[in-house]
Parts: sequence; structure tokens; C-alpha cells
Amino acid sequence: MSRYELKDKHVLITGASSGIGKELSRCFAKEGAHCVLSAHPSEAPALSELSGELESRYGIKTWSFGVDLAGEDGPKKLYDEVKAHVPVIDVLVNNAGLMVYGDFHQADISRQLTLVHVNIRALTLLMHLFLKDMAARRDGRILNVSSVSAFQPTVHHAVYGASKAFVQSLSEAVNEEVRRSGVKVCTLNPSYTNTPLIKGGDFPERLWWYAVSGLADPAIIAQKGVRALKKGKALYIPGFKNWIIHILLPRISSRKIINFFSYHALKSRL
Ligand SMILES: NC(=O)c1ccc[n+]([C@@H]2O[C@H](COP(=O)([O-])OP(=O)(O)OC[C@H]3O[C@@H](n4cnc5c(N)ncnc54)[C@H](OP(=O)(O)O)[C@@H]3O)[C@@H](O)[C@H]2O)c1
Repeated sequence: MSRYELKDKHVLITGASSGIGKELSRCFAKEGAHCVLSAHPSEAPALSELSGELESRYGIKTWSFGVDLAGEDGPKKLYDEVKAHVPVIDVLVNNAGLMVYGDFHQADISRQLTLVHVNIRALTLLMHLFLKDMAARRDGRILNVSSVSAFQPTVHHAVYGASKAFVQSLSEAVNEEVRRSGVKVCTLNPSYTNTPLIKGGDFPERLWWYAVSGLADPAIIAQKGVRALKKGKALYIPGFKNWIIHILLPRISSRKIINFFSYHALKSRL
């Protein structure tokens, strides 16, 4: 199967201001793709610094859009602004996301609902809007940044894991629907990665689980993710060990055992 070439393609990356999104932007730019960078409006300085870096280092074009994806009109506003300024979006990378750590009944419900708005609602709306355009052109790629958390409940950050299970199910189902349309919907499923998402705030400094999983480097995750997208992999979990843990083990273990491990391993180690 031929690879999807990224040179001179236009790639929209949400949550491009930090972590995996920033590294994905660097990888797409290195491939010669023009980058359409989006993040929360408060991240405008970080986006402008990144766009300067990408343009000067890789000679590509960039656009930056600061939009709050938790807002009711956020996703449609981003779509309209992008359509007004960028000729076409060939690749949509739904990367923006947030985490709330803490037991469901104790964690702030408004933050958990903001998570639902960004991780689920915004991703769904952006995918719906851009997929229509891609299907009409019979060309395009959507990369949804999911997680290994999609494959089993994540105790102590239950809404986060549930949001990724939604993203996974949606992505796989829609990818089948568009199979003959020239468009592909792919997921990138990293394990815990060293980014601001799991640093500071309520997230523990160390989880017991890190003894098994370690903490991945966002630059490596991004490189592998872009390679998988070019190859057309519908679901990509970086690291063979992670594939065994998150795909194979849940198939051969009872849910009771998986949930028991999740309860203990996803607790603070300190
Ligand atoms: N780190 C991990 O362990 C891990 C593992 C698997 C999957 N992932 C997934 O990878 C993706 C990127 O996360 P990351 O780890 O790179 O974390 P990150 O560095 O915190 O990046 C998250 C990005 O999403 C943006 N974002 C959050 N709320 C937003 C909002 N309301 N409107 C617009 N943008 C918003 C953030 O902007 P602000 O900084 O302004 O909030 C930031 O640019 C997420 O979907 C996450 O679930 C992460």
C-alpha cells in the first residue's frame, strides 16, 4: 500500500502549544507539511514562538488560531476561521485534551464536564465538519490522539479513560464507514507521556503504574505517530509492550481483575 505523502499538505493540529501536539507539529513541518496551529487563546505566545520556529527551520507556511475548544461555539469557530484563511485541510489532528485526576465523586464536576467538552464534544464536532469536506474531495486523513486509556477503565481518572474509550469507538466505527471514500480515520494511542497533562495540578507526581509503563518522550511518540499515519495504520500503540498490556491482556483476563489492577496501579506512589 502506498504511503500518504505529507509534503505540501495542510495539517491542522489542535492543542499544538505543548506536549505531544507541539512535537507532532514539528514532525509534520519536518515532512514539509504546512502547519495550521491551534490552541487555547491563552497560549498565543507559545503558538507564535512555535510558528516562527517551524517557518524558519523547515521553510513551510503556518497559521495560528487561538480558540477555546471547551466553549459552546469553539469548534465551529475554529472551523470557520480555518476555512476563511487556509486553502484546504488535508489532515486534521484532534490532539487537544485535558485530564482531571481524582475519584469521580470528589473531583470538581465542572472540570470533569470541561474535559467532556474538549476530549469528546470538540473532537466529535471538528471531525464531523472536516470529514464532510474530505469525503467530498475523496481525500484526507484524521488523526485522533486517543490513549491506551481507551482500552480499559482508568480508576481515579475515570472520566478521562471514558473519554478516550469514546474517541476510540467513534474513530474505529467511522473509519469503517469511510473505507471506500479515500479518507482514513486513525488513532494514536500513547501510554503515559512526559507532558504538562500529567504534571502539576491534581495529578500525582508518580503512579505505581510507572514502574511498568515508564514515561514516554513526547518527541518519540510524535515521530512514531506520524510514521504510523503515513503508513495508514488505523490504530497505533507506540511500544510492543503496551500492545500486549492494553490489547492482549484485557482479552484474556476478566474485567474484575483488570479493574482491580487499575484501582491499585493508578494510585499515587508517594
Ligand atoms: N501525556 C500523556 O500521558 C498522554 C497519554 C496518552 C494520550 N495523551 C493525549 O495526548 C493529547 C495531548 O496531550 P499532552 O499530553 O500533550 O498534554 P498537554 O501538553 O497538556 O497538551 C494538551 C493541549 O490541549 C490544549 N487544550 C486543553 N484544553 C483546551 C481548550 N479548552 N481549548 C483549546 N485547547 C485546549 C492545551 O492547551 P492549554 O495548555 O492552553 O490548556 C494543550 O495545547 C491529549 O489528547 C491527551 O489526552 C496524553
